[in-house]
Parts: sequence; structure tokens; C-alpha cells
Amino acid sequence: MMKIYHTPVLINEAIDLLDIKKEDIVMDCTIGEGGHSEKILSHVNKFGHLYGIDRDKETLDTAKKRLSSIKTNFTLIHGNFADILNITKEHNVTGVNKIIVDLGISSLQIEIEERGFSFKREGPLDMRMNREERTTALEIINSFPEYEIADIIYKYGEERFSRKIAKKIVNYRKLKTIKTTTELAEIIKKAYPHKWQKIHPATRTFQALRIKVNKELENLEKFLESFPQILAKNGRVAIISYHSLEDRLIKTYFKQSEELHILNKKVIKPTPEEISRNPRSRSAKLRGAKKL
Ligand SMILES: C[S@@+](CC[C@H](N)C(=O)[O-])C[C@H]1O[C@@H](n2cnc3c(N)ncnc32)[C@H](O)[C@@H]1O
Repeated sequence: MMKIYHTPVLINEAIDLLDIKKEDIVMDCTIGEGGHSEKILSHVNKFGHLYGIDRDKETLDTAKKRLSSIKTNFTLIHGNFADILNITKEHNVTGVNKIIVDLGISSLQIEIEERGFSFKREGPLDMRMNREERTTALEIINSFPEYEIADIIYKYGEERFSRKIAKKIVNYRKLKTIKTTTELAEIIKKAYPHKWQKIHPATRTFQALRIKVNKELENLEKFLESFPQILAKNGRVAIISYHSLEDRLIKTYFKQSEELHILNKKVIKPTPEEISRNPRSRSAKLRGAKKL
């Protein structure tokens, strides 16, 4: 059976913004299943090279199979883009012309129950993108104090009922350890006023837990402070984000940087046609900048 991959978001827009040249050295800092990279590699000749980073080892296997069928001038690296300076040093990468970052999670990660990312699929409360790291959602939910759980849900999920949800969780865990995604989703649902249930009540809490478990905002901040150091003059960066907390960080960083020129003043969003073809793209925002 043919493998169905994660559908890459804003792919043509990102490639246009990056203005890929044949001999470019490109870093895909979130290679995932290789959707963006496959297209980038098709623009690059044998003098160019693509480096693909991901913190999730399992997605690297998929990316390898996919890219090997078209070209050989790529290198895959298991790592965190927050460590981009060390990664480039270790792999002797210099003169990077283009960088792409596609934040969030891949379909592969959401769809495998045992990764615990989805409230729609029963699985362990895990949510680690890198399974070699320690903290899981299970640990947060079952051992963090109530006020801290409420703060996480409020800060990273922008959830108005954070306190109610945290209270329900803590009351429930006094009786029994909360072990699965669907168990947690049910508890959240009970804490949620009925008239506010237009989207699934667990949506924002699951987002918040994922951001906390994977330190997503800290990693993005560290990346933003580092990447200009590895980008060549006139090199370009394109970043696709999926929630306002990330987009705010990117927008602010690009604006205040004296080393960067913003390529698109108006954020680029998916067309209605892309959203209907791939509903997961609906919250995507693309921003690009050029190194002066
Ligand atoms: C939306 S997916 C990328 C999909 C990819 N562009 C494609 O077309 O297949 C996001 C990927 O970023 C990875 N990721 C998230 N945070 C990361 C980080 N700090 N460092 C490296 N990879 C990260 C995730 O593991 C996931 O595979």
C-alpha cells in the first residue's frame, strides 16, 4: 500500500519566500516526514545540500526513506533546533543560505495512539516529541500542584476555564492516577460549561500540555536568538507557526532585529482551498526574513 505522509502546509508559499537556488545549503530544522524537504531538494543540484533536523527519531526514519528515493545530497540529524549553533559546529555546516522551520507536530505523531498527543485517540499521557527526554504529560497531570497546572493551561492554552479544569484534575487524581488521553479529555469536559463547548473542551489544555512537555516556546526563543549567526549574508529564513504565542515571538523577534529584513510585512496564511483540502493547516502563519 502507498504510504500517506503528513501533508506539508503552505509549501509553495514557503518555497517562494525562501527563493531556493540550485546550489543552496538549506537547513530544514523540523524535517518531520520530509514534505517541505522533498520539494526543496527537487530545486537543489548536486552542489547544494539539505540538512534535516528533528528531535523525534521516528520521523527521521520516514524522512530518510522519502528523500532517498529522489536524491542523496542530504544529511539527517537527530537534535533540537534550539541547539542549532552546536549542531552546525558538530557537522561542520557553514554558509547556510536558507532555513525553514515548520513548528507544531506531524500527522505521524498525532495519529500514533501511544505517543499520547491526541484527545481523540486513547493512549498513554506522554506527548514527548523526543522520547529520550524525561518529563511526560502524565507526570505534570499527576504530580504538579493545582496552581501550576492552572497556570500552564492558562499561559500555553489561553484557556479561560484553566482554574476549573485544574481543580477537577486534582480532585480526580486523589482517587486514581490519570493515565490516558481519553480519561483526561473526559475530566476536562466535566469541568467545562456546556455552552462553551463549540470546539472540544480538551483542545486548549492538550495544546498547553504539549507546549510545556516539549518546552516549545523556550526552544523557539533560543532558536530565534541563534539562527542569524549561521545564516550567510542575504540568506533567508521562513517560519510556519500554528498558534498566536509562537507567532507573537517570531513577529517581535524579526521586528527588533537589526540583522534581518522582513520579507512579508503581512503574514501569509493558507488559502481557503488549502484549508478545505487540509484542515490542519487552518491556523498556520508564515513569516520570512532575510539576513542583511
Ligand atoms: C509540522 S511537523 C513538520 C512537518 C514537515 N515540514 C513535513 O512536511 O513533513 C513538525 C516537526 O517538528 C519537530 N520539532 C518540533 N520541535 C522541534 C525542535 N525544537 N527541534 C527539532 N524538531 C522539532 C517535530 O518533532 C515534528 O516532526
